[in-house]
Amino acid sequence: MSKNFFITTPIYYPSARPHMGHAYSSIVADFFARFKKIEGFNVFFLTGTDEHGQKIQRAAEKVNKKPLEFCDEISKTFKDLSKTLNLSNNEFIRTTEDRHHKSVQNLWNILEKKGEIYLSKYAGWYSVSDEAFYLEDEIEEINGVKTSKSSGSPVEWVEEESYFFKLSKWQDKLLDLYENNENFILPKSRKNEVVSFVKSGLKDLSVSRKSFTWGIQVPSNKDHVIYVWLDALTNYISALNYPNINDKLYKNFWPADLHMIGKDILRFHAVYWPAFLLAADLPTPKRIYGHGWILSGEEKMSKSKGNILDPIEIINEYGLDPLRYYLLKEVSFGNDGNISKDKLISCINSDLANNFGNLCQRVLAFTEKNISLKIPKPDRFNEEDLNILNNFSKNYQNLIDYINNQNINSYMNFIVDQMFLANKYFNDQEPWKKKNDIKRLNTIIYTSLELIRKISILLYPVIPNSSLEALSIFNVKETNLTINSIRNNEFLKPSMEINKINILFRKVLNND
Ligand code: ME8
Ligand code: MG
Repeated sequence: MSKNFFITTPIYYPSARPHMGHAYSSIVADFFARFKKIEGFNVFFLTGTDEHGQKIQRAAEKVNKKPLEFCDEISKTFKDLSKTLNLSNNEFIRTTEDRHHKSVQNLWNILEKKGEIYLSKYAGWYSVSDEAFYLEDEIEEINGVKTSKSSGSPVEWVEEESYFFKLSKWQDKLLDLYENNENFILPKSRKNEVVSFVKSGLKDLSVSRKSFTWGIQVPSNKDHVIYVWLDALTNYISALNYPNINDKLYKNFWPADLHMIGKDILRFHAVYWPAFLLAADLPTPKRIYGHGWILSGEEKMSKSKGNILDPIEIINEYGLDPLRYYLLKEVSFGNDGNISKDKLISCINSDLANNFGNLCQRVLAFTEKNISLKIPKPDRFNEEDLNILNNFSKNYQNLIDYINNQNINSYMNFIVDQMFLANKYFNDQEPWKKKNDIKRLNTIIYTSLELIRKISILLYPVIPNSSLEALSIFNVKETNLTINSIRNNEFLKPSMEINKINILFRKVLNND
């Protein structure tokens, strides 16, 4: 059985440098990619930048740069961020790449040949900031400015010749798709929004623009560039070497298992994208997850509002793993969330330093002092040992289900509980009082080390660097890291030598 898993982030607009919102989507996607990897899946994790369209063209003009030169610079800051965030992505795609042009033009030709595209005229509202067309009833006037009700961005009137995609024709097929695939759109609340939007009646979609040039040309008409969302969405298959559908990447990984996106772009992913694919007779992705927003105050953090928090600053001050831990644990996944310095510091001090870090250090120090740096041979486990040791395998299926349902918070709660229980176990067993009972002493140390190992494995998707540092105690390397020992309830081999490690997390003073 082939166990492949394809996960994507949105490809971000390089109209300005990345902020915490982009970091959030990428870290969340990386969490799933890494878990699937240690679960034994062959994972393809894709991210990148979305570089065409009026938004980018205008941003480049504003600073007197050629669009490509402008994109080269800012796309690089996104690529650099993917390294800073320690993403395990296999590819970073840019829509200005040749392979992507070919892929989009090919998809266009198929749609045109199948009669899914026709030439007409668009007259209506357009938001350059969202790169989206809006109907009259999706617009309101705020201080004399026509604005999109959903995003709050200004719209402008556009009237030009345009190709249209027969979106209306796919309304029933889309509704079937949602109905037959219960979890196609998650979370559930967002699915309902999409379903009612589609049920309210789909209009054909304008899929080309004539009044500017920064985009991929319509193959049959040089006066038009392809609508940037048709262009951008296609990145997910371009990266798999579409249009070569016999290519190994495409065959193994399409359809995608999970498009991880923010709720702001759900309509494009859950309505337009599957409609394009259905019309081209290509398989539709398996799941779209629209997560919530990182807020700044009460508002969405966004480039256009300028209320951004730079992830690099937080990382420089507090470290990457604490940030990853915070975003995964403290944001209720699916809902909006905030970055609170106090809560971040409390994650570092209580969960990471006091709980996990301290567990590693005290157990290692105690082991070294009392029996040398070796895994001891345990004697018979008592009920308390077994209870805590078996907790992992007992919850294996739950953990897999949490991941498969994108239930990050339950996954994190399980880990936090185990960290707490492991510390409590070590305290309650009072190994320092068992120096005359070497069998019991060995058993307690053995059990504690095994708990550290299993917790560290589960922390890998969350805080990969620290997890690997902790696993270096047991000579476990990233390349042979798996969760099989949790599934099979397998324990450490006695007498193996173990290693000391550096302090994992230092406590932070809260100066505010
Ligand atoms: O929409 N909180 O690009 P974009 C959480 N190019 N996530 C956030 C966020 C926030 N405050 N702000 C941004 C585009 N994001 C298109 C996508 S995909 C084929 C094309 C994240 O630069 C979130 O994932 O505006 C959101 O959907 C995405 O960045 C939008 O990035
Ligand atoms: Mg945006």
